[in-house]
Amino acid sequence: MQYAHITGWGKSVPPATLTNEDLATFMETTDEWIKTRTGISKRNISHVNTSEMASVAAKHALAAAGIDGCELDLIILATASPDTLIPNIASKVQADIGATCGAFDINAACSGFLYGVGLASSMIKSGQSKKILIIGAERLSFYLDWSRRETAVLFGDGAGAVVLEASNQPGGVLGYEINNDPEGRDILKSDFGSKMDRLDTDSLDFYIHINGQDVFKRAIHGMGSLSNTVLEKCGMSIDDVDFVIPHQANERIIDTLISRMKIPKEKAFVNIADYGNTSAATIPIAICDALSQGKIVPGQTILSCAFGAGLTSAAVLFKWGERITPISVSDANLPPCDKTALELIKPAVDYFFNKANNPK
Ligand code: UT7
Repeated sequence: MQYAHITGWGKSVPPATLTNEDLATFMETTDEWIKTRTGISKRNISHVNTSEMASVAAKHALAAAGIDGCELDLIILATASPDTLIPNIASKVQADIGATCGAFDINAACSGFLYGVGLASSMIKSGQSKKILIIGAERLSFYLDWSRRETAVLFGDGAGAVVLEASNQPGGVLGYEINNDPEGRDILKSDFGSKMDRLDTDSLDFYIHINGQDVFKRAIHGMGSLSNTVLEKCGMSIDDVDFVIPHQANERIIDTLISRMKIPKEKAFVNIADYGNTSAATIPIAICDALSQGKIVPGQTILSCAFGAGLTSAAVLFKWGERITPISVSDANLPPCDKTALELIKPAVDYFFNKANNPK
């Protein structure tokens, strides 16, 4: 019997930080509103493409697992903000790390990383693969209309990755559930506008729209019900869970979810204050931070759940192995950035405010 264990982990967060106070310099918002309604204090704005962040996170995860890229059987990259649609950006990471295996992107929005972990665990348990790299990487700042305060304050950029490896040691991914609620397709989206005419640039509507309250309610329901299903399937109850790593979209969503599931608050990991919502990257970044803060300990049973556009949801239950320290460390890093976050976003801020103030 093969088990699928997380043996490596890594993250890459761009250096430019955009604080709530920075946002308040060009839109009608306050640090207090953002903090109390979302839990976010700051987020990172990338000066590079999604694939560059993904490659750096991947190199750290490979080093932590003590393996080379050429040993991988598969690369799964979860993103809703690839730098190229064709080819996929998993292939760019593959080139950067010297892997010779299958590589594909998945778009399940914020749930994408857990979709990837679930699929990878099935492939390992079936004997199809032995070592799989799963990455969550996003540059959602690229999609934001900075004149829309209801969405612009929520998101940030970053990447995280894990290596999942076959082992005879019981544990690892115990079970997973994935789902999609198509009735929620329109309440969280970024599309090409009603005309779908790429030559009519005025009709393009290429930014994130959210019906926040509707997503809020469905997110709690979706994550809660899948979490319960996966626990039931694994013959466990919530009392068996030592630690919860939820998707970081809004601290109030996390609070409501864990209180409904009767999980003590101290069991839930929350790092949204520092990053905002990095979509598919929130959970692998959280795994890295929880490990470096000593919150993950050997043998712990961990529940992770997410929701995102689609409306997708996913829940994965896993038992951490023995090792909580990296086998090796990579010196991979993003290229330096000589601009502040405000300077990086200024052209887009000017464009969107000009558009909002001068409707056609
Ligand atoms: O991971 C998946 C993607 N994430 C999501 O889809 C997010 C899910 N939803 C949420 O996190 C929350 O619904 C939001 C944070 C988006 C909004 O929080 P809310 O408590 O649902 O606020 P609301 O939409 O009911 O807005 C309350 C007020 C409104 O003003 P009025 O109508 O009461 O006068 C908004 O215009 O807050 C106003 N508002 C803001 N005020 C200051 C909205 N955005 C802002 C802002 N700063 N940035």
